[in-house]
Amino acid sequence: MKPLFRRFLYFQAPLEKNSDSAFRTICHRYGADYTFTEMANVGGLVRSKNTWEKLKIPDKTPTIIQLIGFRKKDFEGFLKKFKPRPGFSGFNLNAGCPSPGLTKYGMGCAMMKDVERINLVRKIFKDHPISLKLRLGANRREKEEKLYLRLIEETDFDFYIVHARHGKEKYKDRADFDIYPELGDTGKKIVANGDIYNKPQIKHLKTAGIKGAMIGRAAVHDPSIFLKLKGKKAPDIEKIKKEYETLSKKRGTKPLHYRNVSRRMGQDVKCQIEKGK
Ligand SMILES: Cc1cc2nc3c(=O)[nH]c(=O)nc-3n(C[C@H](O)[C@H](O)[C@H](O)COP(=O)(O)O)c2cc1C
Repeated sequence: MKPLFRRFLYFQAPLEKNSDSAFRTICHRYGADYTFTEMANVGGLVRSKNTWEKLKIPDKTPTIIQLIGFRKKDFEGFLKKFKPRPGFSGFNLNAGCPSPGLTKYGMGCAMMKDVERINLVRKIFKDHPISLKLRLGANRREKEEKLYLRLIEETDFDFYIVHARHGKEKYKDRADFDIYPELGDTGKKIVANGDIYNKPQIKHLKTAGIKGAMIGRAAVHDPSIFLKLKGKKAPDIEKIKKEYETLSKKRGTKPLHYRNVSRRMGQDVKCQIEKGK
């Protein structure tokens, strides 16, 4: 099953040390059409068993597995070992992470310049659904040169998730909602990401021809944000938090993941996003 975009779709964002299966199941229960694993490095997947923990899908929650990597033989080696489980809804290539520990090896947003390599990964995954997550460029200059538009035009992924910041911007710098009309005009399936939490933003995206919204931090504060943006009623946050706690115990959520999510869940969404938290 891969996202078909017959209607505007909602995605839970990949969140390292947060988006394990308990968090994903709760987001899906409260309106996320598709969920994402945290990023897994294909080099790690090929060389160590531990990294496979991140890819576990224990129920039918529609789950997209996010991969980051550089070497052709790592992507190929991973794919040879991979067996899809119910709920698996495709792969996503991370070409957006700005972490210097990864960009210095040509991964994450450093890959945006390397269209040839990105197309090579697309080719390796030709028998699977695969999307691309990108930023507006690694820095302001790349954003001004519209590297993101060139990349979208010169590649052929099932859909594109555009985090509307460049790689040097922090959360206190606002995501740029002005880029969406031009992205909508590409005719490609574009999912918007960055600072999304209210209905007027969704209206702006739909008007611009954007096909979906990906939500990260606001979903940690309130996993029912998806239902609310769809105009549906949601239960009290305390009930959702209890469900998350119970499911985390059952699934054996790692203490760090549990701490990261539970200390934020229930905080005021608008206030936290506007503060850049
Ligand atoms: C704690 C945390 C972990 C993240 N981990 C990932 C990740 O593993 N892969 C990825 O592509 N982006 C990751 N991101 C970026 C988010 O997916 C998303 O692009 C970003 O938070 C903007 O969306 P938001 O404003 O809805 O949070 C992470 C962000 C945060 C705050």
